[in-house]
Amino acid sequence: MRRWEISAGGRENLRLTHVARPSAGPRELLIRTSAVSLNSRDKMFIDSGAITQFALPFTPGSDMAGVVAAVGAGATRFSVGDRVLTSFTAGWLDGPPQPRGTEMPHSFGGDLPGVLAEYVALPEDWVVATPSSLSDIDASTLPVAGLTAWSALIELGHLQPGQTVLVQGTGGVSLFALQIAHAAGARVIVTSASDEKLARVKTFGATHGINRRSTPNWPQAVKDLTAGNGADHVLEMAGGENLNRSLEALAPNGRVSVIGVLEAFDYQFGAVPLFCNQATVQGIFIGPRRSLENFVRAVDHLRLKPVIDAVYDFEDLPRALEHLDRGPFGKIVIHL
Ligand SMILES: NC(=O)c1ccc[n+]([C@@H]2O[C@H](COP(=O)([O-])OP(=O)(O)OC[C@H]3O[C@@H](n4cnc5c(N)ncnc54)[C@H](OP(=O)(O)O)[C@@H]3O)[C@@H](O)[C@H]2O)c1
Repeated sequence: MRRWEISAGGRENLRLTHVARPSAGPRELLIRTSAVSLNSRDKMFIDSGAITQFALPFTPGSDMAGVVAAVGAGATRFSVGDRVLTSFTAGWLDGPPQPRGTEMPHSFGGDLPGVLAEYVALPEDWVVATPSSLSDIDASTLPVAGLTAWSALIELGHLQPGQTVLVQGTGGVSLFALQIAHAAGARVIVTSASDEKLARVKTFGATHGINRRSTPNWPQAVKDLTAGNGADHVLEMAGGENLNRSLEALAPNGRVSVIGVLEAFDYQFGAVPLFCNQATVQGIFIGPRRSLENFVRAVDHLRLKPVIDAVYDFEDLPRALEHLDRGPFGKIVIHL
């Protein structure tokens, strides 16, 4: 079978290799991969050389939709032919994150081998059933981008109809947040560096768009659009000084979900906007399997259709990564 591998940091070191097909061990499933959606984390690991902390050669990719091809001894949750999705934080089934201090939970395409391979063998507990309303290409976008937005707004954010949500940018997480918030009856303001993308978000339910380049004081623009109140929920995607501005755009008793590191891994903010708004700032780490199962049910119920910017063939991974570099509108998917 074919599998993408990399042994040293840098995209030029990616190789499409041929390796033996794995087999399902006890309580494992052998899954034929149909689609893998990419996340900015995949790009970061490939480009930065951070993979050298993991077993080499490293296979990237965490978000897979596929079909069960064989069932290992003692596995009972799925049968041959079932459609499944990976649950990103493998082994985190429910409840709060496992106590691992500052260490990341186990995850595919991180400390566990990735899914950019024609077949993978995984413990049956690490996957969930695919929503029946979505194709595998669409469904592959749920495990990270979709679930992160769902966790921030619904599982942890308890979003209420009529509240205002501020979504930053038009990447994978942000457009899922827009669709989920719109479906929940919230008003959604989107920031973007592109007027063309801001026009497109209106078709997915955004009430207002703010160009963060031509309107550098976008927190004030959010206040202006909300009669001075601010947004009840802000999804912080950039890091660095941006968190300060997210707090400025926040309504009293509002909530910032800290998600992205598009600009920086360190966050800076002053105490005053935090105090004055009695703000809640919560880190988000994707979510456990139970949250993904809830999200899958909601996707079927709402007929939510993920926004996919482009689909690439398996051998075109380098081109797909270049598309991620340019800033996607929604998700980029690799099709096998
Ligand atoms: N904590 C978690 O659980 C979690 C889970 C998933 C992702 N993340 C992180 O969240 C971030 C976004 O992930 P993603 O997969 O949605 O990325 P993505 O699909 O690659 O989205 C990138 C988009 O973000 C926007 N953007 C770029 N720089 C920005 C900035 N400085 N301020 C605001 N928006 C900016 C751009 O949209 P415009 O062109 O419209 O401006 C760009 O298209 C990444 O840092 C990722 O690592 C965290």
